[in-house]
Amino acid sequence: MCGIIGHLGKYNNLKIGIDALKRLEYRGYDSAGLAAFNAEKKDIFSLKTVGRISNLEEKFSKSPIFGNPFILHTRWATTGRVTEANAHPHWDCKKNIYIVHNGIIENYRTLKDKLLAMGHKFSSDTDTEVVSHLIEYFFKGNLEEATRKALKLIKGTYALLIISREDPQKIVAARLSSPLIIGIKDKDYFIASDYNAIIPYAKKVINLEDNEIATITPGNFFILKEREPEELDLKLEEAQKGKFSHFMLKEIFEEPEAIRNSISGRLLPEEGLAKLGGLEEVKDKLKEIERMIIIGCGTARYAGLVGEYMLEEYAGIPVEVDVGSEFRYRKPIINEKTAVLSISQSGETADTLAALREAKRKGALALGITNVVGSTQTRETDAGIYNHVGPEIGVASTKVFISQLTILALLTMYLGRQREMSLVTGRRISQELQKLPGLAETILKQDKQIQELAKKYSQFRNFFVLGRKYNYPIAMEGALKLKEVAYLIHAESYPGGEMKHGPIALIDENFPSVAICPSDSVYEKMLNAIEEAKSRNGKILAVATEGNEDIKKIADDVIYIPKTLEMLTPILTTIPLHLFAAYIGLELGLDIDKPRNLAKSVTVE
Ligand code: M6R
Repeated sequence: MCGIIGHLGKYNNLKIGIDALKRLEYRGYDSAGLAAFNAEKKDIFSLKTVGRISNLEEKFSKSPIFGNPFILHTRWATTGRVTEANAHPHWDCKKNIYIVHNGIIENYRTLKDKLLAMGHKFSSDTDTEVVSHLIEYFFKGNLEEATRKALKLIKGTYALLIISREDPQKIVAARLSSPLIIGIKDKDYFIASDYNAIIPYAKKVINLEDNEIATITPGNFFILKEREPEELDLKLEEAQKGKFSHFMLKEIFEEPEAIRNSISGRLLPEEGLAKLGGLEEVKDKLKEIERMIIIGCGTARYAGLVGEYMLEEYAGIPVEVDVGSEFRYRKPIINEKTAVLSISQSGETADTLAALREAKRKGALALGITNVVGSTQTRETDAGIYNHVGPEIGVASTKVFISQLTILALLTMYLGRQREMSLVTGRRISQELQKLPGLAETILKQDKQIQELAKKYSQFRNFFVLGRKYNYPIAMEGALKLKEVAYLIHAESYPGGEMKHGPIALIDENFPSVAICPSDSVYEKMLNAIEEAKSRNGKILAVATEGNEDIKKIADDVIYIPKTLEMLTPILTTIPLHLFAAYIGLELGLDIDKPRNLAKSVTVE
């Protein structure tokens, strides 16, 4: 939601920049700042304030800054609280490089750790600041060259403007999945994140495209399309396992952070609203949607199934979920009031893409949820939402699944509040979502206990994973994870109520069931299924809500999750199931990061 303005040309008075920035006020922001190169003093000067642009204006009137080029920014806090230090512009250690940024740097933690280890000093908690230090690392007198190298190490989205005291006659602008426009009038250049801001100063405009880097100099500019891969001397972005033996374990331990990143900057708790910038352009169309079809494969489809429960209960939108590979061979009924939501971690799954194309061809509004910026899915959808949880290396999808569920909860709030959902309900979901990362962390504290349980249960070769309502798709996910990473075991999922219709015949003392039974609206029904299995000598490992002591009377073992809203329980119940599968796989001596026969991204039909 942030805004960007930059100018290189004849104007020295930043009042013009502030006026242009005011035209971006409608987008919402919580702090603002500016920086300009003063040729007389051969230095860059900056001002920042928390709150309205008028605060910045007041500060500016007391200590005006003159110079050119200049850059300005309004910030909507995502990473790092609303403080003056976190407002943009950000700079490097030498105060040579100043940047403003819209978007999110997903791998900023890894980069920041490396840069800190190299002695860089940071003055904010933002993701953005790593970009100025990275550029500093590569800077040898040429700003665009250093920027180009730095951007190769960045994962995420950005619209960036950069100026430098040591290469002062320049603004470097770069874009990936966040708009940036260059307005030109004679020899004056105005760069902005939104055309509205620069209308008075632009006769012609150029829309920067993804992966383009523009260098604007007095009376001239050129644009470089950055595509060719290049070897860099510093492998800052090498995926690291850190203290973990496997990526899968590391990524499960990142699940609380995945929830945090997925909601970051996307909640307006007081208004009970979700703010999804990626859907802005189709906001009005979404109000008209009467039906939604969610498509995905494997784990992504299970997320969609949880979404079906959420959207139908809270947004009142009829939802249908289908497997990518099946959808296009049906004759799906689609009209212009149908939205298709494609869920894919990679954004490259051939079956999902084929289904998406088919739905689009029939006139559906195409939406997507993906983790990979610039993937095919992002290019082929009308609008979408990024997971923003950093690269997932383990073949089994874990932290991205958690993020998909979190985003579906946000989407439910977004669409629900466009319809009948009350302010009170919106606030309630919002409050519970904010608590989730902390609750997820408490589950991971049971790591040792789950590892012990995995050891105990690894002797079995068959499992049922049972759940109902919101947790039936999580039973599917739990069974899939066992199949994928503990593949000497066969695991099947069922809704609790289905067991008596046949599968119960399989149960004996060698056929245990994992029963997901949080204290929710179907708890009593799940108990029936557990009793049925128990009375046939089947062992029960229950995933239950803290405080439920009674479950111990019937289950052989219990893993507890904290209490939350029923619609959000899947986000918590998934975590112990992911850990359980990973530890059983390890117990069986399997490579859980690269299980046999599987690929991370399935790009063939
Ligand atoms: O990249 P995608 O999310 O589209 O991948 C879809 C499935 O191939 C994927 O979820 C698969 O089921 C994983 N191996 C699950 O862990």
